[in-house]
Amino acid sequence: MFYDLLRRLSTECQNQDKGVYCLWYTVWPIIFLCSAKGLETFINNSKQLVKSFDYILLEPWLKTGLLTSKNEKWRSRRRIITPSFHDTQLLNNYMIIFNEQACILARRFDDCATQPNKTHDLYPYISACTLDIIVEAATGTNPKAQSGDEKNEFVEATVRITEILSLRSRSPWMWPPFIFDRLPIGREQKKVLKVLHGFSRKVIEERLTTFNAEQVTNGDDKKKSTRRLVFLDSLLTQMHAEKLSLDDIQEEVDTFMFEGHDTTAAALNFFCYLMGCYPDVQAKVHAEMDSIFGDDRERPCTMDDIQQMTYLDCVIKESMRILPPVPIIGREAQEDFVYCGQTIRKGTHLNIFIHGIHFDANIFPNPNKFDPERFAESSLISKERSPFAFIPFSAGSRNCIGMAERSKKHPACQYQTDKPWLDPQTHQNNGIKRPDELENEMKDPPLDEADNDILNHIHGSMIGMALGDIIGAHVEFRPREYLLQYPVTELKGGGTWGLKEGQVNCSEEGTAGNGALMRLAPVPLFFHRHPKYAVQYSGLSGLITHGDTKVYDACRYYGALIVAAVNKEPKEKLLHNNFYEEHEQWFAGKSLHPDIERIARGSYQKKEGYDKGIRGKGYIVDALEAALWAFWSDEGDFQNGVLAAVNLGDDTDTTAAIYGQLAGACYGYEKLRKDWVEQVYAKNFIECLSKWIAYEGKEWSSKQTVMPNIPYVTIQPPPEDDSASSLVQKKNLLERRASKSPTEQLNPQSNSFSKFEQLTGLNTNHRPRTNTVIDRPSNLKSGSEVQFVSTRPKSAEYHPSKQMMGQVFISNRFFSVIFVSKHLLT
Ligand code: HEM
Repeated sequence: MFYDLLRRLSTECQNQDKGVYCLWYTVWPIIFLCSAKGLETFINNSKQLVKSFDYILLEPWLKTGLLTSKNEKWRSRRRIITPSFHDTQLLNNYMIIFNEQACILARRFDDCATQPNKTHDLYPYISACTLDIIVEAATGTNPKAQSGDEKNEFVEATVRITEILSLRSRSPWMWPPFIFDRLPIGREQKKVLKVLHGFSRKVIEERLTTFNAEQVTNGDDKKKSTRRLVFLDSLLTQMHAEKLSLDDIQEEVDTFMFEGHDTTAAALNFFCYLMGCYPDVQAKVHAEMDSIFGDDRERPCTMDDIQQMTYLDCVIKESMRILPPVPIIGREAQEDFVYCGQTIRKGTHLNIFIHGIHFDANIFPNPNKFDPERFAESSLISKERSPFAFIPFSAGSRNCIGMAERSKKHPACQYQTDKPWLDPQTHQNNGIKRPDELENEMKDPPLDEADNDILNHIHGSMIGMALGDIIGAHVEFRPREYLLQYPVTELKGGGTWGLKEGQVNCSEEGTAGNGALMRLAPVPLFFHRHPKYAVQYSGLSGLITHGDTKVYDACRYYGALIVAAVNKEPKEKLLHNNFYEEHEQWFAGKSLHPDIERIARGSYQKKEGYDKGIRGKGYIVDALEAALWAFWSDEGDFQNGVLAAVNLGDDTDTTAAIYGQLAGACYGYEKLRKDWVEQVYAKNFIECLSKWIAYEGKEWSSKQTVMPNIPYVTIQPPPEDDSASSLVQKKNLLERRASKSPTEQLNPQSNSFSKFEQLTGLNTNHRPRTNTVIDRPSNLKSGSEVQFVSTRPKSAEYHPSKQMMGQVFISNRFFSVIFVSKHLLT
């Protein structure tokens, strides 16, 4: 009844183009969001990730695991756990478990079929199967719920806890713990939880014993393990790395057993129900299975099979639209926001009414009709539908971690890679993920403790660059006079671009030419073990967008300083006017452009700074000088330097970002102001990227360089030995270029620009400098045939399409707030 009321209210709202209504639940107002329109801004906002108060009912069981945790704890857990869902070996092991348990379920269904005149409730069979799957996939132990022969304390406790939670969520008077704990049902919950916690603790401890024994015998190489690796093993590895404690692991294992069991059971149950209601659809699904498996009914299902189940994919989606296993989720607004024209205040309890959103007739015409074709890739409606109109797994960065897609990559990301950190790029709806979303999914590389020192400097440079950009963006293009009157003394939001604190502005590449320095750091940081390459590639990186010798040399010189700083050369050496001579080898004997050489000789060492001509302008020579002036005069303190760079005025963010790369590399991450660092947008993303730069840089060797075969930019490795003749040839070219007029030098269509192909080994299609996006060549189509293939081994192993589970094998599922929604409301 109550649930019908919610559905009716949603439909009324949608018909009036409103999308939001409020219900008073005794004394609490609860806002229901029921329109896909406007949901994106809320659900994608990284500040709006806190669950509503009712999730507290789950805490006696799940403590503060992934589902219920908040803020930094949630963020760090999500980062730690996500890789387990992309680990090929684990996924293959899960496939074995799915196949084994699915066979048992099929046999049990067969037994039912031998009694045709009896009515069978399929739910207990399905639920037992999903329980066996999730427990085995999570812990490696099978509770044998499907065998159903003997009394099983754990299985009974799992069934009972869901009943208790459901009942409590429907009975607000039982919510206060001091009442609930004194009721018979509260005491029963305690007993049931003792069984559940006892079970999870026991399996963790048993697994830990074997895990430790294997660590001792095999080192850390998990491939040598003779056991079937499961989710718990990846958590134990994190415990080994001191990122999780035993209690942390237990709350996550409990969360997964809860999350992964009941909602998957509900999804499969609803699916079977709908198949019974729509025999024509069932026949088509059957035909698709026959086309894949032929007569071989015994063969295990593979990931490749799942890729071919296109019709089944549509049917599952449509059944989750009509009967979403999680119909409502709850959040608490962390700041005011506007949704469908209504301002919703901070602190409001919100229910995202997934079921209501799925029935919006403006998006799903005739919504009560079960029509799998709505999800066919060829369907126009499917293509034009808002990504937030169908959200059975929620959306944004706090979506379901267990969600699996039949792989679909964004058309712009159709390459294969052996770099796991490049994999999680797109949403299920094909939208490209932002860094703050990606940061929860990236996996750290296997760095050793010995790498911490270098990492401190690499990370310092990357975050230093971001801090400079952030602090400077606030007042970008304000003149010096303005900054004299209103000097920047802190990291702030708003300002020129109306940014939030910690956000970076990604502007178009302008005509100024200092952008090449602003984005330089990753190049020399990557080549930190190979200074000569660091310098060469720093120069090349500038040329990608700026065809000017000064840019090339500014980047070479600054790249050399960064690489020297990362390798802990003292600041005095970096600022010494014979730095070039001291490191001449790094520059392969190629002299610097006179304007850059002047700076390398110390032109920036002017106490009076601005008054003596130091300018934070867009011209690369000015920018380089200004950044070095800030570094020279900062008295060893990043804060002094970055503020000095910003307060020069004009291109404040660029000057400060250039400064930040070098100062951060020199002083190290640990010397940066902690409260500032905390505010950096997608800080964890940058941190993880820094680790990969450190790791990949360590692994890189000039001998094994394989450059990506990208049709429109072909990069060739620099010659192993820079022979004198090639140097002379290049120098001549440089000089010839330098003698051209500035306009000609910068004109991408000019001959001089194209000659850089010979000079640098970099072939470009003369893309205009103002275009910062790498264009797709016109002859490239989007689709699976477009692949920028890395020739390194095992590249295919990381291709998500080869790894992802299809929804048909969503082995398990959770229940969550549905107590406060589905069960509460029905
Ligand atoms: C049909 C299957 C499933 C559906 C419909 C589903 C749906 C959802 C939804 C709607 C959420 C968001 C909950 C919220 O915001 O409160 C969620 C979160 C979550 N799901 Fe699933 N899920 C499914 C399967 C699974 C499986 C198999 C697992 C684990 C193996 C899993 C683990 C989780 C976890 C840990 C979260 C919390 C994520 C976080 O807050 O970061 N789910 N799921």
